Amino acid sequence: MEKKIIAKRVHCLVLAYPLQGHINPILQFSKLLQHQGVRITMVTTRFFYKNLQNVPSSIALETISDGFDKDGPTGASSHKAYIDRSCQVGSETFVHLLHKLSASGDHVDCVIYDSFFHWALDVAKRFGIIGAVFLTQNMAVNSIYYHVHLGNLQVPLTQQEFSLPALPKLQLEDMPSFLLTYVEDPCLLDFFVDQFSNIDKADWVLCNTFYELDNEIASWIKKIWPKFRTIGPNIPSMFLDKQYIDDQDYGVAQFNYEECIEWLDDKPKGSVVYVSFGSLATLGEEQMEELAYGLRESSSYFLWVVRASEQIKLPNFFEKKSEKGLIVTWCCQLKVLAHQAIGCFVTHCGWNSTLESLCLGVPIIAIPHWSDQSTNAKLMVDVWKVGIRAVVDEKKIVRREALKHCIKEIMASEKGKVMKSNAIQWKTLAIRAVGEGGSSHENIIEFINELLHLQI
Ligand code: UDX
Repeated sequence: MEKKIIAKRVHCLVLAYPLQGHINPILQFSKLLQHQGVRITMVTTRFFYKNLQNVPSSIALETISDGFDKDGPTGASSHKAYIDRSCQVGSETFVHLLHKLSASGDHVDCVIYDSFFHWALDVAKRFGIIGAVFLTQNMAVNSIYYHVHLGNLQVPLTQQEFSLPALPKLQLEDMPSFLLTYVEDPCLLDFFVDQFSNIDKADWVLCNTFYELDNEIASWIKKIWPKFRTIGPNIPSMFLDKQYIDDQDYGVAQFNYEECIEWLDDKPKGSVVYVSFGSLATLGEEQMEELAYGLRESSSYFLWVVRASEQIKLPNFFEKKSEKGLIVTWCCQLKVLAHQAIGCFVTHCGWNSTLESLCLGVPIIAIPHWSDQSTNAKLMVDVWKVGIRAVVDEKKIVRREALKHCIKEIMASEKGKVMKSNAIQWKTLAIRAVGEGGSSHENIIEFINELLHLQI
């Protein structure tokens, strides 16, 4: 039985960015700290607050404003308008919150903030509080943005191939999409690069990955940020080391999951293709049609998450439930990936989905959409060797034949078997990293110990 370190006095304020892909891992990290006795107050925006579910009652909740309390980010006229206002109003209301806590005698030892809210570090410093930045995205992607911040990588990009320290050679199409769309929309790249504008002043740099997965880049970046630590994968214990039996939920809305699991229960081991493009990606109608017919014509079963807002793009009369396939608006992805019937995961390669497939030993077919996803796909295919990238045509569409070919390759070829076995090896390493004595576990204990030590 693991010895819990007594960190009752340590109080961390965890500032979460209001996106599902960001809330999930930082909430999970908070729960790990809490299991070690750290007191957690989670802070998110007033708009997002109502979407928060399954936050344990032992975690206190507070809100700040991003300036869009009624409609959230969609209430802003542009990305830039949201970013500018959320930075200004967010800082002001975060200051109010810290004053409020201080006035009530509620001491805060550390602010752990999502790197998208980089201004939180400046606020924490004004209050003399330790600031720990939480990097939600993959470390390779973070380092690419950091190189842009340093001026080592000039945008617009003019080369076809890139050699960056501790990273594999990257082609243009492997780079985060915002570097490619810089000319049309500089604001988005600026936003991502700004995460690193003050990172050198952060007391800790915590990243949702594990050393064994990202050892080269982790070792390199540690020379620049000595307090860089890998603390992931931030996935509920139930799906990893099973150390905390109460750690079953996963943060935000889960529905339809009973239906999915019942449907999967009937299917033979490794026979189902699971398809999901995360919480944000929107596909064109033509792409949806090609996927739909590709899945229907393949020789495997399929379970496909098509969010309610995307369902209108499905071909007319396409069956949502049949012996061959099931389409749902959402599921508990971790429970699905952990199911013995799942044979592969067609994914957009969001970082959470990427880590989840590695941790559950499921090989992938990559159909990256934007942001960090192409870089994640490159690593999955060429470095971690757990999948293949679907070929796109000149319109950047994955045609049904290409999808069927990938499914056959993963589900029924010798190459597919090797990818599956590689994925199982990553799963073993991920479980080891979070277990007692593992790389991420040790880093978390070090982090808490130092916060404890500062109080003495
Ligand atoms: C966003 C970005 O798009 C992604 O590139 C970035 O790395 C993180 O933030 P998102 O697109 O939602 O995230 O993808 P992803 O990172 O994969 O996160 C989706 C999360 O939703 C996963 O944790 C997944 O388990 C969960 N999910 C998804 C469900 O629980 N049910 C579903 O049906 C689909």
